Amino acid sequence: MSNTAQIAPSILSADFLNLERDVRLLTESSEPPEWLHIDVMDGHFVPNLTIGPPFVRALKRITTVPLDVHLMIDNPAEQLDWYLDAGADLLTVYLEAAKPGARGERKGSSATIKELHEAEVEHVSTLLDRIRKAGALVGLSLNPETPTGLLLPFYQQLDLVLLMSVHPGFGGQSFIPESLVRLEAIRRDAEALRAKVLLEVDGGIDANTAKLAVAAGADVLVAGNAIYGQADPVEAMQLIRAAC
Ligand code: DX5
Ligand code: ZN
Repeated sequence: MSNTAQIAPSILSADFLNLERDVRLLTESSEPPEWLHIDVMDGHFVPNLTIGPPFVRALKRITTVPLDVHLMIDNPAEQLDWYLDAGADLLTVYLEAAKPGARGERKGSSATIKELHEAEVEHVSTLLDRIRKAGALVGLSLNPETPTGLLLPFYQQLDLVLLMSVHPGFGGQSFIPESLVRLEAIRRDAEALRAKVLLEVDGGIDANTAKLAVAAGADVLVAGNAIYGQADPVEAMQLIRAAC
């Protein structure tokens, strides 16, 4: 666990008609965020549709803050090159979406899987390898009901694990309390394997849950509504930092 939590504001809650203004507000503030979190949703893997590669490319032109691209899409194998070419610094795919030919069962609005067969582990591993070879940092995400133990074969390939603390698809949801023990479990597994991964948590993070998440092992805090949903996003970002 790092001593200082890193902040990754999610532009999902920004004003899309004034996206450049909202991004610069934070990235050009006196204490800019460590990441800019970009939620890519395809209307299939999650029941919402957001933005694609042209936005990533455009955002890359207006900031040097690393772009943390969170791919909530089916078949990332077909599309991940688009995001790497567009300038993603960190690209995160889902364990669930990477299961070839199947999205697993659905719980709430998101897919959950209980096991991965050998060929599926190999498929995920190949995706992660492609991200690495393209020169980006490698992230792997998992949904709220998917067992954290399914990450075990992948730790050595990862720079970051993204734990979903809500069912992905929408901003402004409440933090799922069980996420805290899941963060602790991932932190334990990573340490046991001596894997140097950042642990990112996404969904329902505000000053209160941020503090709990960091105590449970989170290094990177994604926050949408708690930053861009507030009257003063810069102050809101600093409040989350200060709480940890
Ligand atoms: C949800 C997205 C999140 C979202 C978080 O599926 O992955 O990044 O923006 O929003 P808040 O912080 O409002 O829960
Ligand atoms: Zn996200």
